[in-house]
Amino acid sequence: MKLCMIGTGYVGLVSGVCFSDVGNTVYCVDKDKKKIDLLNNGIVPIFEPGLEEILKKNHKQKRLIFTTDLKKAVLNSDIIFICVGTPTKKNSNTADLKYVFSVAKDLNKIIKKYKIIVNKSTVPLSTGDQIEKILFNLKKKKLVDIVSNPEFLREGEAIRDFIYPDRVIIGTDSKKANKILKSLYLPIIKKISRYFNTSRRGAELIKYASNAFLATKISFINEIANLCEKAGVDVKDVAAGMGSDQRIGDRFLRAGPAYGGSCFPKDTRALIDTGSKFKTDLSIVKSVVNSNENRKTLLVKRVDKILGANFKNKIITFLGVTFKPNTDDMREASSIPMIKYLNKKSCKIKYYDPSGEKDDFKSFKNVKYCSTISAACLKTDLVILHTEWNDFKQLNFKKLIKKKKFKIYDMRNLYSPLKMKKLDIDYFGVGR
Ligand code: UDX
Repeated sequence: MKLCMIGTGYVGLVSGVCFSDVGNTVYCVDKDKKKIDLLNNGIVPIFEPGLEEILKKNHKQKRLIFTTDLKKAVLNSDIIFICVGTPTKKNSNTADLKYVFSVAKDLNKIIKKYKIIVNKSTVPLSTGDQIEKILFNLKKKKLVDIVSNPEFLREGEAIRDFIYPDRVIIGTDSKKANKILKSLYLPIIKKISRYFNTSRRGAELIKYASNAFLATKISFINEIANLCEKAGVDVKDVAAGMGSDQRIGDRFLRAGPAYGGSCFPKDTRALIDTGSKFKTDLSIVKSVVNSNENRKTLLVKRVDKILGANFKNKIITFLGVTFKPNTDDMREASSIPMIKYLNKKSCKIKYYDPSGEKDDFKSFKNVKYCSTISAACLKTDLVILHTEWNDFKQLNFKKLIKKKKFKIYDMRNLYSPLKMKKLDIDYFGVGR
């Protein structure tokens, strides 16, 4: 099939590359000429393990085309995917849909024969209806079907998530569009995944409900971790015990810092906003957002406690600063408020992250990037294990730090408290 992905951000690029890999011809369109030039030279502007290899292979075979020419790409394609950003509007919870609507207006001028328009951008309930209004005349002439097909890709795992999805959700009441999309997804859903056709609004809500539920699971275990800390219980045991009940499941029950990234914080806020538009009080989601905000302060206070509020001339090392491993993404990473707070005290902060130095900290006087784990750890007073990159899972702290007294704050519970005790290391975890 011939596909057009509008927007070569995370979702558009990963989906476009993976669709081309299963034999489709895919036009990836972006307004940003620099980005298109990079992609045409085989340079991937995002950090996603495995993406570059598949991209280069399909680009070479001419199944993957990068262009700024929207008109040509649309006219040559059967299915058009909208994959543009939906950031939160400043000082509100509302998702900003200006990019989605601007694409719809462009399509309204270009389309002359039947196309399926699939929205993959994360958009609030009823956005599909608004797109349909913009394309009213084309819809009346049966020249378009507007479908919702949310993505569930995790950064760092996006290729695997695309090729082996748990489910593919198609929101449309058009039998024709559903049949064509089912055959597009057939190579992917053939083995284990579920293909699920529902209403367009249903599909839009499934995306937000899924992300909000996962955020709820994380916040829930994080609050249980707070209780564990006070009661002398290990939250890892509680999560394992709870998680072996199949109705609960053991995933997304890892206690740690406040959740971050480009999706959970933004989508939970947007869902609350949708709730109020539809006059529904989503009190649980509201509590989750609050709980996650409070967590940022709570964990900083814990550092205060660990250091005995004695910051002067102390050296603090962050291992990992991204919101999760296998990404270079700093959006809503809990390391940002932590480092901001500690920077104000008179301590020195060193950090190492496998994805490199971060612009977020370049203007901070007391924050220094180190290019190796050993440089970051040398002579430090406190190591904060912030992100669970594999690189940090088997460290010999005594050898690295070369100092008699130091402390470890393991925010991802990567190490065994018992082993640390045996090594006579001052160790603090989360919820244990
Ligand atoms: C998420 C969803 O998983 C994906 O389906 C969606 O479409 C996009 O948003 P992503 O943002 O890449 O993906 O990250 P994810 O792996 O879900 O982690 C989000 C945050 O939750 C991270 O800060 C992570 O550290 C945290 N997390 C996750 C926990 O603290 N504990 C867990 O058990 C799992």
